[in-house]
Amino acid sequence: MEKTFGFIGTGHMGGALAAAVCRGVSPQDVVLCNRTPAKAAALAETLGCRTGSASEAAGCDYLFLGVKPQQMAALLAALRPLLRDRPNTVLISMAAGLTLHRLEELAGLPFPVAVLRIMPNLPVSVGRGVVLYDKNAALSDADEAVLRMAMAPAGLVEPLEERLMDAGSALCGCSPAFTALYLEALTDGAVACGIPRAVALRLAVQATEGSAALLTESGLHPAALKDAVCSPGGSTIQGVRALEAGGFRAAVIEAVIAARDANLALGT
Ligand SMILES: NC(=O)c1ccc[n+]([C@@H]2O[C@H](COP(=O)([O-])OP(=O)(O)OC[C@H]3O[C@@H](n4cnc5c(N)ncnc54)[C@H](OP(=O)(O)O)[C@@H]3O)[C@@H](O)[C@H]2O)c1
Repeated sequence: MEKTFGFIGTGHMGGALAAAVCRGVSPQDVVLCNRTPAKAAALAETLGCRTGSASEAAGCDYLFLGVKPQQMAALLAALRPLLRDRPNTVLISMAAGLTLHRLEELAGLPFPVAVLRIMPNLPVSVGRGVVLYDKNAALSDADEAVLRMAMAPAGLVEPLEERLMDAGSALCGCSPAFTALYLEALTDGAVACGIPRAVALRLAVQATEGSAALLTESGLHPAALKDAVCSPGGSTIQGVRALEAGGFRAAVIEAVIAARDANLALGT
């Protein structure tokens, strides 16, 4: 029998993951539920899946919880009677800051509930994201494999120990902002040299995407790619010199650590 996937909370991130899962499995096996039903209905129409009540979503084999962290306690309390009758339901939480242990506590079930904690980043909405995850002891390897397969259209699905989740989300969650700053600066530099802004941005995005793709496909170390582009006495090494003088690499390293520290302080 086909596995079924329920979503409660189909906002920005829950909706983006539902869209990915509908590409990884048959949309017929996906049920969406949202507090404002029109939001789930519009998404379901686009994705070709169904909408349902919270109890219909909770009746699925895998239940994605897409509500805000502060809404999780009330949601799980309301779902408890339904989940008590379905000991094999797997809970998937994307809530920042809620640990596997805390999610087990909030579920409050008289048996070990299987929980996957995921940390997706915004580019999952275009299928090029990262989904970091860790699981509790009750989640079977078979269920982990099904969920990895179902979420694969979101991008890279990567296990990461929960103790490193703050660092992982500083890298993956913040990198859209860091990359946007870099692309904006790259574009400004080209505009300063006379290239029209729209053209400059298009070129900056393509050159950056291409460089990342080259690293992925070649397996080259970033330093080796830099060396390959820097011919002796050439222009690229002069640009690298300017970046080093501006503390570019140190600034990026500090940005990741600062974001990790902020996550730790927030308890996320
Ligand atoms: N956004 C990101 O980049 C990002 C990244 C990583 C993790 N996350 C996590 O993803 C989760 C959702 O964040 P978001 O940005 O997607 O927030 P959001 O857009 O506000 O989505 C939350 C959704 O949950 C619905 N909801 C709330 N209570 C509900 C209930 N009892 N039953 C059914 N639906 C309910 C809301 O419905 P209404 O339409 O009525 O408001 C809303 O659509 C959070 O836990 C967050 O930590 C987000």
